[in-house]
Amino acid sequence: MDLNQKDVPIVGALEFYRKARYFSFHMPGHKNGEGIDRRLASITGREFYKIDLTELPGLDDLHAPQECIKKAQELAAAAFGAGKTFFSVNGTSCGIQAAIMACCKEGDAIVLPRNAHRSALAGLILSGARPVWVPAELERNFGIPLHPAPRKFLELLDTGKHIKAVFCINPTYHGFSAELSPIIENAHRLGVPVIIDEAHGPHFHFHNMLPASAMDLGADIAIQSTHKMLTALNQGSMLHVGRESLIKPEAVFEQLTILQTTSPSYLILASLDTARMQMAVNGEKLLEKTIDMALNLKQKIETIGGIRCAPTDDPCKLLISVKELGATGFAVAEYLRENFNVQVELADLFNILLLITFGNTKEDCQRVVDGLNSLAGSSMDKRQAAPKRAAALFKVSTLPECELTPREAWFSVKRAVPVEEARGCISAEIVAPYPPGIPLLCPGEKINDEIINQIKEIRAMEIGVQGSRDPKLLHIQVVDSLRRITAL
Ligand SMILES: Cc1ncc(COP(=O)(O)O)c(C=O)c1O
Repeated sequence: MDLNQKDVPIVGALEFYRKARYFSFHMPGHKNGEGIDRRLASITGREFYKIDLTELPGLDDLHAPQECIKKAQELAAAAFGAGKTFFSVNGTSCGIQAAIMACCKEGDAIVLPRNAHRSALAGLILSGARPVWVPAELERNFGIPLHPAPRKFLELLDTGKHIKAVFCINPTYHGFSAELSPIIENAHRLGVPVIIDEAHGPHFHFHNMLPASAMDLGADIAIQSTHKMLTALNQGSMLHVGRESLIKPEAVFEQLTILQTTSPSYLILASLDTARMQMAVNGEKLLEKTIDMALNLKQKIETIGGIRCAPTDDPCKLLISVKELGATGFAVAEYLRENFNVQVELADLFNILLLITFGNTKEDCQRVVDGLNSLAGSSMDKRQAAPKRAAALFKVSTLPECELTPREAWFSVKRAVPVEEARGCISAEIVAPYPPGIPLLCPGEKINDEIINQIKEIRAMEIGVQGSRDPKLLHIQVVDSLRRITAL
């Protein structure tokens, strides 16, 4: 195949189109930016919109790629070590849904960690698959979820001959990678495909100081948020199908075409094209610089009293515990933003998380060091102490019994019941206290006394929850009855 990684076919097609200066009688309605409101244009300029185009002659079609998009996806597959690559303009979320739908039909069992991203739950709802959850593990020093140990997956694979797919996360949001090889080897021995949520690992393939990528380890499907750790615009992700995948690329493509928008953004597509080019041509050097910068920052931060960095597998993720400073991560994030103009990726009760890419500079990093030094030297009243009882959140309870599939529960006739009266009911929603974001309940699961007590505890501590319709968690949505399919 004639592939030159310096090529950026989508960008080339857009340059060509831009030069032609066609009078637009097509979508989008802003007409090369002319119709864009002045206030927005004062932030963005108008140039940007001239390549916000649609499927026009010479610009190919994401849903039937034959020209520049086809070529760009082929270049990406070669660069990331995949057999076939598909671009997603709907993030990794959409890729995860498509991957689960390609592997599982109604009632099929899929093994997945309890701390899987909510898009995996959406994949279960869309496909009708039956989850076989593996409890998440907790790293107690930092209070964060980890990927479960491989042995837990192997036990399930050995007992459940009916399993149709395995889903893993590599790495976690906080930068801890999973030991994937034994899971992939054992699943493949049984003919079971492995899907990897590699949202946070699109850079892994390009530097040997980073964990191995899912494609390099022989996974069947990996989905990466090119927009998170590389330079694609928000929503730009890639779904890679392995060279020897048990799942046919066409089966995944078929699902992507019903999930993705029919008006994909060419700005996103072009940024996927250039993000691939940057990595393929110069990735090792760019990542070398990034890793050096991140390790240097980590070293400096670790000398500050009361601050500890987590031993993340991805050096580009800096997870910093501020617990011993007597402050919450939220308070530290606010302090850095207000006093040092530093915006962190995430804050929770105990930590802040920094994400470092080659878009950062040494000067950026120095601001973080200055900010944390200043905070460590400041008086306690500038901070908000972490609630002492927060540790109670990190109990690992046994998983509730699963009575219905997430799809059955999600589409059931629902009713809201007071949490105190929900014993024995089947949840129709997700309840996930954050942190650590691990669902206490998923749709289809039976509510027991332990769960009711945990919800009461979460309420008392005023901890945020994800997924629940009632943010105060006074009521919970439960299954009233299953919907019947009415005859046409
Ligand atoms: C582990 C994980 N998987 C998947 C996603 C979804 O990615 P996207 O935002 O690209 O849809 C996220 C988003 O934060 C994530 O953290």
